[in-house]
Amino acid sequence: MKAVSFAAFGVPSEVATCIEVPDVGAPGDDEIVVEVEAFPINPVDLLTIQGLYAGRPALPATPGAESVGRVAAIGKSVEGLQPGDRVVNLGRDNWVQRLKIKAAQAIKVPSDGDVLQQAMLKVNPATALLMLRNFVELAPGDWVIQDAANSGVGTCLIRLAKAAGIRTVNVVRRESLIDPLQAIGADVVVVDSEDLAARVAQATAGAAIKLAVDAVAGETCQRLAQCLAEGGTVVNYGLLSGRPCTVAASDLVFRGITLTGFWLSRHLSLAPRPAIETLYQDLSQRLSDGELHVPVEATYSIDEIQAALAHAARDGRSGKILVRPT
Ligand SMILES: NC(=O)c1ccc[n+]([C@@H]2O[C@H](COP(=O)([O-])OP(=O)(O)OC[C@H]3O[C@@H](n4cnc5c(N)ncnc54)[C@H](OP(=O)(O)O)[C@@H]3O)[C@@H](O)[C@H]2O)c1
Repeated sequence: MKAVSFAAFGVPSEVATCIEVPDVGAPGDDEIVVEVEAFPINPVDLLTIQGLYAGRPALPATPGAESVGRVAAIGKSVEGLQPGDRVVNLGRDNWVQRLKIKAAQAIKVPSDGDVLQQAMLKVNPATALLMLRNFVELAPGDWVIQDAANSGVGTCLIRLAKAAGIRTVNVVRRESLIDPLQAIGADVVVVDSEDLAARVAQATAGAAIKLAVDAVAGETCQRLAQCLAEGGTVVNYGLLSGRPCTVAASDLVFRGITLTGFWLSRHLSLAPRPAIETLYQDLSQRLSDGELHVPVEATYSIDEIQAALAHAARDGRSGKILVRPT
């Protein structure tokens, strides 16, 4: 079978290749074998291959934060799953044609759902929902501001907020994103600039914004903090600028702004299994209902992984890059 592998950290499209590896073989008693149908290329995967993500894997390594696939075989003691069921893998190392995993690591999703959207269910929708829910109490009519608003997480956050009656200010890097983001429910879309706080105040008629969700860090984080009402919270969840989070001492001290962080892996490692199942049942239902949908720019075969990685690393994409390995 085929797998993606990298033997050195470096530029993803140069160091990661598609190789032949032995088949995973039959499942153990508590295991399942999954034919992987699709996986996305996320920023976390690019950072992992560059050796820049939390915890560097031993080399050679297979990347892949998430995937969806069909159960091909089940072990003797596995209950609640059958061959033919479609599952999302909660574990890593997903960029392969066949996975052998513990049944407890699989989350069942509808067999007839949109396979590309299901391949992206684990990371971005969950991150957006948990950041909206877990830091600040938000009621319908309240305002949230976020940057990288056209990203997978950002578009999920817009849709989830809209469904809950929460209003969003969305900061992006180009004007051409204003119409598409408004079309999916964004209330305000602004291109980032030095005078962001003044422009946001004007666009929201001075609304008190309680929560800022930041994937960029650096000075963009500071600009989001300046848009918050007194006592507001900045949740950082990404380092797209590659710079440390910046919030002025005057915002922290005189205006009571809180700066904190969110990492889905940590959340899932601490959450009890029933809570994880409830989370993904909820998100899966929202996917089926059409409430959640992440734009896709292109799909590739696993043999084309280097072209896929080069494409995923480009700025200004209109959506995610996915691979169909089988
Ligand atoms: N903490 C967690 O648990 C967690 C979970 C999921 C994702 N994340 C992080 O969330 C971020 C978004 O992930 P995703 O999968 O949603 O991304 P994505 O769909 O692949 O989109 C990438 C986004 O990043 C923007 N971007 C890239 N470089 C930038 C820069 N220097 N300054 C500002 N914006 C920049 C792009 O804007 P353009 O269109 O303008 O290029 C685009 O909006 C990543 O940093 C990822 O690691 C964290």
